[in-house]
Amino acid sequence: MNEIDIPVFTLDGLKRGERMDELRRCAGEKGAFYLVVDGPLEVVHAQAGDAALTFFATATEEEKSAVTNSEPNVRRGFSALGSESTARCTNTGDYSDYAMVYSMGTSGNLFPAPAFARTWETYFDLYYGIAQDVARALLGSMDVQDKVDIDTLVDCNPVLRYRYFPDVPPDRCAEYQPNRMAPHYDLSIITLILQSQSPNGFVSLQVEVDGAFVDVPPRPGCVVVFCGSVAPLVSEGRIKAPQHRVVSPAMEQRVGSSRTSSVLFLRPRNEFCFSVPLAKALGMGGDLTGERATFGEWCGANYLEMHVGQLPA
Ligand SMILES: [Fe+2]
Repeated sequence: MNEIDIPVFTLDGLKRGERMDELRRCAGEKGAFYLVVDGPLEVVHAQAGDAALTFFATATEEEKSAVTNSEPNVRRGFSALGSESTARCTNTGDYSDYAMVYSMGTSGNLFPAPAFARTWETYFDLYYGIAQDVARALLGSMDVQDKVDIDTLVDCNPVLRYRYFPDVPPDRCAEYQPNRMAPHYDLSIITLILQSQSPNGFVSLQVEVDGAFVDVPPRPGCVVVFCGSVAPLVSEGRIKAPQHRVVSPAMEQRVGSSRTSSVLFLRPRNEFCFSVPLAKALGMGGDLTGERATFGEWCGANYLEMHVGQLPA
């Protein structure tokens, strides 16, 4: 299987309610698809990316420290290279995520400069609105309206994270450490990803389909959509939240393997309440007890990503 088996939808089509049967089938079988997005997102994404990459490359240590969040469970501002570890959060290893990150949300943001703030606020609002449109279509296709108010659910607590993955050093090549970021599923309703092509063509992002990880290369004009763990909770398991990972290049592909990945996590509000027995039946929420829990209680230290079940061989 390869990326051509990951379906492609268009945002305009989803908003018009087209191909809902295909969307429902895709959400249930794969939980992942490409989305063609027309309009200003591509230009605004490029502007925000330029601002972030310039900051990463030119800001002084003092300037970086001024927008580095002291609270690790609240993703805002700058995160230095190797300062986060999905592997440790998910108990799948001890290696760091080989990336530096700029993050923002709806409040409590840490902007390095007013111009940066204007660019990023425009980007955030646009990207968030698109994620809401996709989630409305996706959940609408699953007929969950009787169980959950979709508009209330998607008026939520999104987090936008722009990651720059530099060329990995020799000791982080696949021969020594296969992942830039450990396998996980996202703690979100859905997640949207805009990724750049590595200069040497190496593909880092992979998603699990039918028990095997397959490449998810950048596709011009497209956002990648992954369903997150809240989607199966509100659809009683009918939507799949796929595992995904970011792999390292082999030594021979090390140079030119840098990439960027801009990820919008459409996260529910902390008060979002769900059935603990249902979560456990779906293989999630292992530490929870009782009948009901909130999203805030569930996340704990695992703010955005979590490991689930047995990894494919
Ligand atoms: Fe993820």
